[in-house]
Amino acid sequence: MMFDAAQIRKQFPFFKEHSSLAYLDNAATTQKPRVVIDAITSFYTRGNANIHRGLYEPATSTSKAYEQVRASVAQFIGGQNPKEIVFTTGSTGGINLVAHSFLRPRLEKGDEVLISAMEHHSNLLPWQEACHAAGAHLRVIPMNEKGELDLKAFRQLLGKRTKMLALVHVSNTLGTINPVGEIVEQAHKHGIPVLVDAAQSIATYPIDVSGWGVDFLTFSGHKIFGPTGVGVLYGKSSFLADMQALHFGGDMVRDVRWEQTTYADPPQRFEAGTTNIAGVMGLGAAIDFMKGMDRQSVISHLEELRDYATASISVIDGLKIIGQASSKTAILSFILPDIHPHDVATFLAAENIAVRAGHHCTQPIMDSWGIPGTTRASFGLYNTLEEVDRLVSCLTEIQRFFS
Ligand code: ALA
Repeated sequence: MMFDAAQIRKQFPFFKEHSSLAYLDNAATTQKPRVVIDAITSFYTRGNANIHRGLYEPATSTSKAYEQVRASVAQFIGGQNPKEIVFTTGSTGGINLVAHSFLRPRLEKGDEVLISAMEHHSNLLPWQEACHAAGAHLRVIPMNEKGELDLKAFRQLLGKRTKMLALVHVSNTLGTINPVGEIVEQAHKHGIPVLVDAAQSIATYPIDVSGWGVDFLTFSGHKIFGPTGVGVLYGKSSFLADMQALHFGGDMVRDVRWEQTTYADPPQRFEAGTTNIAGVMGLGAAIDFMKGMDRQSVISHLEELRDYATASISVIDGLKIIGQASSKTAILSFILPDIHPHDVATFLAAENIAVRAGHHCTQPIMDSWGIPGTTRASFGLYNTLEEVDRLVSCLTEIQRFFS
């Protein structure tokens, strides 16, 4: 069956409200299908009660539904055990939890933590902070001028003192798709635990935590057509069992005395207080929405958008694409000579085209290219070739206007 972006688009109420907007900022956040909005509304209108506490309806069915989302997420990312799924506030929340509760107690002066040169600040700062606190060193896997990781250099960086490797699956700025399975395998040869940040890949590519053998994986609900403020941390049960909580409070304890408290097993241990129950319901609907899609059609559609957009904008005089990895998602970061990315984005906004401009929370990437920022068009499954045409014709206008 043909992939019909226009049909899919009809499932997103946002596009009814903004019928003339070309929304090309999907790396910042994705729009929400009706089923996700309905799941949140339905929770508040029919199912609102706290979880794991009440013995009445709807408390019991809401608790059950919450745990069903956990199981559904585990299955979606190739996990074997729902108890390895922790609900968080997003990718950032999950990475901070691992950096603080897993790495920090194991990190000693002189140790090393390895990340890549294309990390989002959320997969850089928690490790940098942990290194500063312990007197450890942050090491960085370099990349080439196309925005591909240097895997030879990576292998050379793996050493006895490397205590953790954290890297992004798909770069939010360059679009590069990293070979995470291969990278995890190499790191494991040295006994190094690996965290993969799947925030940017989750809405497009299959995730296989078991096949990759990855130790931790994080993603955010809002980048997979779900709500903001909710996300997932997958962690191998043997590691989660060993980790202290980051937040302390209700629903994460077994027994509390004045002198001593024993804590619940994972994942409860890491979900203190009343969690984002509505967010989890919305996330569950978003995961079901994705499960209902033919994954290969989604990938093919995005590849078509990527290829068409790349070819079309490349003819614009002087335009330079930042990030030209051979394995790349539908994200196009670019610069136009002597035109600030904010001017480009402002001009595009005036023509109802939504993109992001700036450093995209990846300042070190900008430093690698010696630029202050880029303009970034990032595509989602509801985008069309016509929207690419609008982008290209507007960029041509901008180029003409400024020259
Ligand atoms: N990480 C998001 C982006 O790339 C916000 O725009």
